[in-house]
Amino acid sequence: MDSIPFTADKAVARNYPYNCWWVAAYREEVGRSLLSRWLLDTPVLLYRTGAGDVVAMEDRCPHRQAPLSLGVLRDDEIECGYHGFRFGASGRCTHVPTMAGPPPISVETYPVRECGPFVWIYLGDQQRIDDVPPPYDIGWPADPSFGVRSGHIEVAANYMLLKENVLDLSHLGFVHAKSFGITDLTSPPQVTTEDETVTYCQRFTEKPLPAGYALALGMEPGVIWNRETYGSFVSPALQISSVDFRDPAKPDSEPMGRIRFCHATTPIDRTRMHYFYMLGRDHARDDDAMDIFAKVIKIGFAEDQAVLEAIQNFANRSPRRGSSGERSVKADAAGVHARRAIDRWMARETIPTDAS
Ligand code: FES
Ligand SMILES: [Fe+2]
Repeated sequence: MDSIPFTADKAVARNYPYNCWWVAAYREEVGRSLLSRWLLDTPVLLYRTGAGDVVAMEDRCPHRQAPLSLGVLRDDEIECGYHGFRFGASGRCTHVPTMAGPPPISVETYPVRECGPFVWIYLGDQQRIDDVPPPYDIGWPADPSFGVRSGHIEVAANYMLLKENVLDLSHLGFVHAKSFGITDLTSPPQVTTEDETVTYCQRFTEKPLPAGYALALGMEPGVIWNRETYGSFVSPALQISSVDFRDPAKPDSEPMGRIRFCHATTPIDRTRMHYFYMLGRDHARDDDAMDIFAKVIKIGFAEDQAVLEAIQNFANRSPRRGSSGERSVKADAAGVHARRAIDRWMARETIPTDAS
């Protein structure tokens, strides 16, 4: 169950689209036990059938609304822990203890897909499922040349706050000055848009390499090197980011080191999110080195969490926040484009009226 205490002001407007594939869980999290997870203001129950297929259904019994996750899995069926109604993987009621035959009731089930490291879920309009981009395959976690680590945090903040955080890396020199020690992201990145994808890119040509990067590459901190930091808003559900390192003597060569991240954010509700993150690199990838890398990232992401939760906490407490507004600068360009992309995504969910 979600562990963050509920403090949200439910009057807060929804700013996430339903018609989108979202990350529900890591694939290995879903097995033959019952996983309950709130996603898009919806209680969802996840498990695998004996054949290994993932099932996602509303975690609420249609009899008297007990969470089905408090019941038990019997073969491939869920038995509600309150009065023992059973439901099959399709959601259909198969058995009621006080009846000879099951009544024609069912619990809602949702489409799921396994793609890359994740189980993706679609909680939107079934008629529109083919209109939205399919789950995105990140690719590199399955590449054996990468060491990979992952994490999952429940953050008490609207998911957009994290999107904007990872699209504007100028915060690294402040929020993460000690943990990451990367303080040279002092100019706005180049931002490009294509369809609904927003991409930023920042090149550091013949610049001193921050210590963390240099040591992992087996070089002295401050060595003059080329690096490129770039990332994309792929969909409301996912962002990816990268750092490539190149020898300045061979600027057009293949990177001599690559770091990759993915940031999958799924709203729990309007003021909380699941943050599924993955990190990988193709150098310093032995277990000890990767453990250290993952530990530093965990510290850094906890620093982000503290800032984002503080922002959300003020937003929750002060409905007049909008009166002071926000002032954007050039470094916010990627985040502003992402907001617009999400606005368009949500507008496509609305059925046009004659007047529109
Ligand atoms: S609430 Fe589930 S069987 Fe009654
Ligand atoms: Fe950060």
